[in-house]
Amino acid sequence: MRIPIIAGNWKMHKTRDEALQFIYAINMEVPKREYVETVVCAQAPILRDLVKRQGENVRIGAQNMHQETEGAYTGEVSAPLLENIGVDYVIIGHSERRQYFNETDEAVNAKLHQALRFNLVPILCVGESLETRESDATENYVSAQIEKALMGLGKEQVKDIVIAYEPIWAIGTGKTATNEQANETIAFIRKRIGEIYDSETMESVRILYGGSVKPENIVGLMKEPHIDGALVGGASLNAKSFMQLVDAAFN
Ligand code: 13P
Repeated sequence: MRIPIIAGNWKMHKTRDEALQFIYAINMEVPKREYVETVVCAQAPILRDLVKRQGENVRIGAQNMHQETEGAYTGEVSAPLLENIGVDYVIIGHSERRQYFNETDEAVNAKLHQALRFNLVPILCVGESLETRESDATENYVSAQIEKALMGLGKEQVKDIVIAYEPIWAIGTGKTATNEQANETIAFIRKRIGEIYDSETMESVRILYGGSVKPENIVGLMKEPHIDGALVGGASLNAKSFMQLVDAAFN
């Protein structure tokens, strides 16, 4: 059985005060980690404060990291630092990073290797644009993203990775993929993992859906057999709606 995950991606939102208020509000409410993994991915300067105050069942994630261990990379954050301050997860290859910061598939691949080397659970994001979906090229596109991202990783490593399928046209648009669309593409990703690795890896890797997930649509999404949880932007900013998502994944 794959344990579901609800991961909030706060993106560039929340001051320190707001972040701490949020974590205090959810700490006692979050179900045990054997039922659902609850992750909050925040801006780098607040990560240590959140780790120090995380409730027993809450985990903290970063939204990005650099693929090199150290060096002259002004403004970047390293994997050893994230590990050192107690961060457990890191989002890799979010479409906003690919789009606005020119993150390539090669960089995403290097970051996955680096995250695993420093005991961080990577949440690898893949997903197609509207144009790609409308030209019926979603599977080819997502398949290439997966192959390039996982290059050189062994099956034991891939089992520990979390994948988030986030169609770009559904992010922040209020336009969520239908439950069937999300499940279908996630089933396809799972099948590709099976082809690249084996059926055991395919069955154990967790694949989330992301893109306008809200308390109103989470229940339907979670009922789909291949969807193991959600990576959530907007609806993760409010403690109450975030907890509604966590509860829905748990029930
Ligand atoms: P929204 O939930 O705001 O659409 O954002 C999705 C996302 O990009 C999570 O990483």
